[in-house]
Amino acid sequence: MNYRIAPSIIAADWSRFEEEMEKAKMGDFVHVDVMDGHFVPNITLGPDVAKALYRATGKPLDVHLMLTHPDAYIGRFFFEGVFRITVHYESAAILTYTFNRIREAGIKVGVAISPDTPAERVFKLLPRVDQVLVMTVYPGFSGQRMLEWVLPKVETLHRFREEMGLRFTITVDGGVNVENLKKIGPADEVVMGSAFFGGRMQVGKFTT
Ligand code: DX5
Ligand code: ZN
Repeated sequence: MNYRIAPSIIAADWSRFEEEMEKAKMGDFVHVDVMDGHFVPNITLGPDVAKALYRATGKPLDVHLMLTHPDAYIGRFFFEGVFRITVHYESAAILTYTFNRIREAGIKVGVAISPDTPAERVFKLLPRVDQVLVMTVYPGFSGQRMLEWVLPKVETLHRFREEMGLRFTITVDGGVNVENLKKIGPADEVVMGSAFFGGRMQVGKFTT
C-alpha cells in the first residue's frame, strides 16, 4: 500500500529549524498540530507560526486543530498555503456550521476522531467532509506509541466509503512508524512525527 506522507511539524527539532524544514519538504504536505492547552493538555503553535512554516517549506499545510472552540480561531487559519483544516468531532464546535465556514474560504474540510470515538459516530457527517483523521494516539503529544486497537476503524471507514460511493480521504495520525505501517490498512495518508524527524525514515520509500 502506498500512502501520502505528512510530516508532523511539532516533532521537529526547532533548534535546528532550517535543517528540519528541509526534511519537511520531502513530505507530500506538512501536518500542523494546533493545541490550546484545554482540549488537550499541551500548547503548540498558532497561525503566525503556521504562516512561517509555509514560507519555510512552500508545502501545503494540513492544519489539525485540537481546540475546544475551533470556531473562535478557524478564521485565523484562512491564509494562502492552508489546503485543509481538520476539526475534532469531540470539540465544542457546531460541526456543520464550522465545515461551511471552512469550505466558503476555499479550504478542504476534515473531521478528526479521538481513539475512544467510534467511527460510526461520524458516518452522518461524511458526505460533507473531504477527510477523516483517525487518531491512533490520544491527542496532545507526538512520540507516543500507536494504539493498534484503533486500526479497525480504518477498515470500517473504508467499507462505508465504498458502500456509500463517497470520496473522503482517510488519514491515520499517531505513532506511525516503518514497523506498523503495514498494519494500517486502506488509509490514503499517514501523519508521521517522531518517526519522520527522528532520522530513521527514508522519505520517498514508504511502500509496504
Ligand atoms: C498528536 C498529533 C500528531 C502527532 C504525531 O496529538 O496530532 O500529529 O504529532 O506525532 P507521532 O508520529 O510522533 O505520534
Ligand atoms: Zn495531528
